[in-house]
Amino acid sequence: MKFEVLEDGARIRNKNVLGIALYEDFSQEDLLPLPSSLALLVKMEIPRENFKAKKGTSLIVPLADGETQCIVLAGMGKREEACLDDWRIAAFMIARTAASRGASSVSIAMPDASGKYGGHDRELSRCIGSGVVLAGYRFEKYRTQDQEDRFRAPDVVEVLGADISGLEEGRIVSAGQCWARDMANEPGNVINPGTFEQEARRLAESHGLEIGVLDASELERRGMNALLSVGRGSATPPRLIHLTYRPEAASKGAIALVGKGITFDSGGLSIKPADSMVTMKGDKTGACVVLAAVKVASELKLPLTVHAITGVAENMPGGGAYRPDDIIRAYNGKTIEVNNTDAEGRLTLADALAYASELEPDAIIDIATLTGACAVALGDTTAGLFTNDERLGTEFLSVTRASGERFWKLPMDDENLRKKVKSSVADVVNSAGRYGGAITAAMFLENFVKKGTPWIHLDIAATDFAKEAYSYYTKGATAFGMRTIARFLIARAGA
Ligand code: BES
Ligand code: MN
Ligand code: ZN
Repeated sequence: MKFEVLEDGARIRNKNVLGIALYEDFSQEDLLPLPSSLALLVKMEIPRENFKAKKGTSLIVPLADGETQCIVLAGMGKREEACLDDWRIAAFMIARTAASRGASSVSIAMPDASGKYGGHDRELSRCIGSGVVLAGYRFEKYRTQDQEDRFRAPDVVEVLGADISGLEEGRIVSAGQCWARDMANEPGNVINPGTFEQEARRLAESHGLEIGVLDASELERRGMNALLSVGRGSATPPRLIHLTYRPEAASKGAIALVGKGITFDSGGLSIKPADSMVTMKGDKTGACVVLAAVKVASELKLPLTVHAITGVAENMPGGGAYRPDDIIRAYNGKTIEVNNTDAEGRLTLADALAYASELEPDAIIDIATLTGACAVALGDTTAGLFTNDERLGTEFLSVTRASGERFWKLPMDDENLRKKVKSSVADVVNSAGRYGGAITAAMFLENFVKKGTPWIHLDIAATDFAKEAYSYYTKGATAFGMRTIARFLIARAGA
């Protein structure tokens, strides 16, 4: 797919699909980017179809003949309430309509906050580019294609008055997101710790990234028993994967990203009920996201070092499985009492966070489908954020306006709650009960981050997977958090 920019003041025309975004208070003048004969037609169609330009709605006006198949009007809602994500959603709606009609070219006109069709800054253009790329996504490789299916991502996308580098950056970030979604959507019979490693190696190869893999015997040698324990019930042994994007001039320091990589979470011996096990192929989303983030950092040539670290394991109840009551010594020497083998993510993260701490990065960000409690607290479209460093937390939250992903900070200063993570037979216990379950999970993780290292923990349980399509997500993996991490890295890089 190729982006083209149409100069300010020009009209969108001569493409298979023409898309124009409108606020609820739109007037005739807002149709100016359309050729006048088409604007006339649209003007008649709007009242007929009672189109009000409400947020998330669209109107398709089919054309009888000529190169242009249809015009798409995308509702932006109230002008004064418009936020950056609305441009992403509207661009998605227009490009998605084109894709579902098999159109090979599309031209898009969107008003900025002041109503101007053009002169778009880089951030706005990133959102548009991002929305267009998300519109080309679907995970249907395992469906036998039916003949009727015309879906194809457009070859040429023209945007009126956009910033070309912004469009390209939006493309890179959302292509990374789609890469992560593809990985996360793969089922457990395809992606296991071994095939996950193969994919990581392929990525390292194609992008010139450093890769190090610790296999089970190496994990044994180093005392990474928490990760090892989780993987013991599976036919495929666990491993720790470490990818690094290291630019020649890493003038902006180093960030370590740690992702939860459970290729399937059955719960282990503390086995999940059947219904809760469905979607647990998505329990590797954090790992997919951190891999995609180094891919994006390298494609954007950001001047900072980015590490992606993941302990990959499959949580299964096989004969060798770890058990409730087991006491494990983690990589950093702390001991863990296991009282629930379904609280496995924090165990794999314990060793991965301790490993990441040794790299002495400027900050560690971990991302994990960690607790159902987080989904209960925040719902399935807002993820949790926990931090030991208020400044870092604020810095991260400040880019969500542009990324369009919702995060909400949950507290870590409740000392009475923190006591629940203590064990009577070991240093800590892996499950501290139902109340405050997302917070106690974060408090557990804190034990494995080296003191003084700024750290953020992101809990993306349930946000990782869309039960049905919404905004620019199709049903299935969302790779939630990917865009915010990428935007955070871009900000760190000063771009
Ligand atoms: N992978 C799950 C968390 C999860 C739940 C992700 C729903 C996505 C959607 C995690 O490993 C888990 O099982 N957590 C337990 C922890 C409990 C045993 C302390 C949970 O949330 O029930
Ligand atoms: Mn679990
Ligand atoms: Zn899990």
